[in-house]
Amino acid sequence: MAIAIDPRATTDPDEILRAILDPERRGALYPWLHQLRSVAPVWRAEGLFGPGGWVLSRYEDVRAVLRHPSAFSDERNADIFDVGESGAAFTAMMRQQILYLSPPDHDRIRALVARHFTPRSVERWRAAAEQEVLRLLDLAVDRGKLDLVRDVAYPLPIAVICEMLGVPRSDVPLVFEWAHDFARRGDVAALTPEVIRRGETATLAFRDYFLDLARERRSRPRDDLTTMLANVRDAQGALSDDALAATCVILLQAGHETTADLISLGIRGLLLAPAAMARLRMQPERIPNAVLELLRWDTSVQISQRRSREPIELAGTRIPAGETFVLLNGAANRDPAAYPDPDTLDVDRVPRDQLAFGLGRHRCLGASLARLEIETAIAALLRRFPRLDFEAEPVFRGSFFLRGLASLPLRFGADARKGLPS
Ligand code: HEM
Repeated sequence: MAIAIDPRATTDPDEILRAILDPERRGALYPWLHQLRSVAPVWRAEGLFGPGGWVLSRYEDVRAVLRHPSAFSDERNADIFDVGESGAAFTAMMRQQILYLSPPDHDRIRALVARHFTPRSVERWRAAAEQEVLRLLDLAVDRGKLDLVRDVAYPLPIAVICEMLGVPRSDVPLVFEWAHDFARRGDVAALTPEVIRRGETATLAFRDYFLDLARERRSRPRDDLTTMLANVRDAQGALSDDALAATCVILLQAGHETTADLISLGIRGLLLAPAAMARLRMQPERIPNAVLELLRWDTSVQISQRRSREPIELAGTRIPAGETFVLLNGAANRDPAAYPDPDTLDVDRVPRDQLAFGLGRHRCLGASLARLEIETAIAALLRRFPRLDFEAEPVFRGSFFLRGLASLPLRFGADARKGLPS
């Protein structure tokens, strides 16, 4: 069925949802999310997100489910990746990843890694991130061309998380390629046999790679996350090979694509709001708050899923136990009931409790690291390029689940300076 162009003229919730999922509509997503929230804020969709689920788009409802003591995420949420035998290795690894683990396995893995991702712990990576972003910008100035996605947004977070995991620099290009194929396989709305095949190859390569690295770190320990995970001896003993490999891979995956998306979506947002950009150039000390507002305004992880052990009542609708909730984080963050004038990117707004990092037991483990990297990238770009502008239209990836740009060509003018600012 053809989808009407004007979201406000569309009142069938399923039709609105099909528009939301339509890869062609990434650039104009939010009017559709607003329309869904106004016509059907609590809606049971059949067959659009797995077998069926309650789609929530109001801030209060999304927050209530994320905080509900009976709502949980478990390995059944990884069923969406199940395509049968041809994609079995990838699905098995996803079932082991922390986001889909329930207690006590979840709490065990989280406790092991969480202390390396506190605001204080991640500060030690700030200088390395700054140096890396300056190096990447120098390369762009030399080339006279900058595609922010390819040249900065992806390489920066992957360099940092590889360093944290102890992946040698010489292996980063290899890991980068696997990470790309792994991420495409995770976009379940755009699977082809080739994407599935490459996803399997990347999963098996990743597994062998991290198990080899772990073996090496057992004999020659270093100050990195792979050494720590390889040598765990807590009350349950050592980590299984499956848990060890899945934890390294998920830190790598969760640690780069989402952050890359926010760097490029954030710069796109600032270029579309020149007054906000000018304000940050004048007052770079406002960048940390601006990053939170950018996360509220447009985010990468658009969906979280939960199930509940008990019925949950949402504004008059009783959802029975065991049903799936599809929580639309981006829609919640643009809910006018939570944030006045939500479509305006206002870098002076303090977007309290914005939901881009989720909430509750599974709240983003890497939130402080992500903020640090986005701050570093934006600060360096504004400082180095007094005249930054679009060179061509940004190109969105097709995915709604993990929203981001495939390319963002930028023009930076002849007055761009290389090296460290004096
Ligand atoms: C701007 C960048 C990022 C965004 C928008 C983001 C978003 C999120 C969201 C929404 C969740 C919760 C999902 C849910 O409840 O269903 C999450 C979980 C998670 N994130 Fe991030 N994330 C980002 C960066 C990172 C980084 C840099 C890491 C570092 C390794 C990371 C690691 C994780 C992990 C391990 C979880 C699962 C936590 C758990 O299940 O206990 N993320 N993230």
